[in-house]
Amino acid sequence: MNIFLERKSVRNYDPNHKISIEKLTEILKEAYRAPSSMNMQSSRMFVIESDEAKAQLKTVLYGNELQLSTSSAMILIASDRQKFDYAEKIYNTAYEKGIMPLEVRDRQINNMKIHREKFTTEILDRDGYIDGGLLAMQLMLVAKSHGYDTCAIGGFNRKEINKALNLPDRYTPVLIISIGKAMEPGFDSIRLDIEDTTKFL
Ligand SMILES: Cc1cc2nc3c(=O)[nH]c(=O)nc-3n(C[C@H](O)[C@H](O)[C@H](O)COP(=O)(O)O)c2cc1C
Repeated sequence: MNIFLERKSVRNYDPNHKISIEKLTEILKEAYRAPSSMNMQSSRMFVIESDEAKAQLKTVLYGNELQLSTSSAMILIASDRQKFDYAEKIYNTAYEKGIMPLEVRDRQINNMKIHREKFTTEILDRDGYIDGGLLAMQLMLVAKSHGYDTCAIGGFNRKEINKALNLPDRYTPVLIISIGKAMEPGFDSIRLDIEDTTKFL
């Protein structure tokens, strides 16, 4: 199976199939190998799988109720505006594992201190949307490789979702990914011609 070409958005899942926390954790760890700006790993994943959490999410979804009610989980990808809190952990671990020289670690930690002071909310969110988009794509492909299907969901109230899920303001919502065992295959969708979308300069 070519997971890249066979992935389609699936909106109707087997409501009786619950992906175990262990399996979901494995999928999310693999997905999190996605690249991120300066490897600062700004994305956070909130796994909405209990009936209570799904009911909270329902209050801010625009449509998309079939995915909500039948999926095994809805995963909110959000960007952490305090991502720089993890700078030392990230670069120290790389140094301790022997994959980053000491002087690079020190330079990077220092650079991150400067970025932390300079980066506006706008820059943090812009980078967060890019990091989160890349994670979302990788999550959808990793899920497919494990025999599960997904649907990217942007149809939700971005201003209200943190309040509905009791998440602090530091998290900027990027995208929701529903995941589950497909009940119905996703439908075919067309793509523009390569001439419409691409120019070789
Ligand atoms: C940013 C983004 C937001 C989307 N939001 C929704 C959504 O709210 N509901 C939905 O059913 N599909 C949503 N989709 C899925 C698209 O409709 C779908 O990817 C597109 O039609 C192509 O179909 P395919 O994924 O099967 O290849 C979204 C996709 C993206 C990338």
